[in-house]
Amino acid sequence: MKTTILPSLLAADPGHLAEGASLAEAAGADALHLDIMDGHFVPNISMGPAVVAMASKTVSIPCNVHLMLTHPDRYVDAFAKAGSETLLIHIEADCDVPATLEQIRRTGMRPGITLNPHTPAETIFPILDQIAEILVMTVRPGYGGQSFMPEPLDTIRTIRERCLQSRDLAQMTIMVDGGINAETAEQCAAAGANAFVAGTYLYGAGDMSAAITDLRARTTAAYEAHWSTR
Ligand code: DX5
Ligand code: ZN
Repeated sequence: MKTTILPSLLAADPGHLAEGASLAEAAGADALHLDIMDGHFVPNISMGPAVVAMASKTVSIPCNVHLMLTHPDRYVDAFAKAGSETLLIHIEADCDVPATLEQIRRTGMRPGITLNPHTPAETIFPILDQIAEILVMTVRPGYGGQSFMPEPLDTIRTIRERCLQSRDLAQMTIMVDGGINAETAEQCAAAGANAFVAGTYLYGAGDMSAAITDLRARTTAAYEAHWSTR
């Protein structure tokens, strides 16, 4: 299974977000990751639907939108209109999670669920058949540039093992986000992750294209070594 790489626009120059989005596409990114923060679910405030609309017009790769919102259910239509391909909500959000995932699916977007670093893997087991993608946070959400936390590696492994138990879930996208670089991405791939968000690392790389190619090769090899025969 080939892994996928998603630069996080949060790490681009805020004065030149369109150029930041285009840079990711030109460098061979599989999708663009956009972090939406409400200053309530997380302490920080970032971008909103207008930036997603700009990005989806600027690039032809998919927009992967990560909602760090207390009430994501109130914004599903706005992010659908903005052109999001995948809409990720948090399992810890203050909403009816299964109903919100269904709302996302009905708009035509891919529904995704996100877990904070200390949230047990089992909390998402009852909704696995409702989601197209799982995001395991490897930092506390809210800011780019934080250090990778190793504790969620067990969560990733538990979720991958559970997904491999049923044929419909075997190809599940398990994505990681926070403190991802060449070394931490390899650790996550060995634990069962197959999609990698990186902000500081990719936007800070002198050559984003080379960094993406390297990240994809390393993570594909690490994933295959641990999971391909299962
Ligand atoms: C953190 C965000 C991340 C962030 C990652 O709350 O969800 O997507 O952009 O940034 P880095 O890769 O710099 O840790
Ligand atoms: Zn994110």
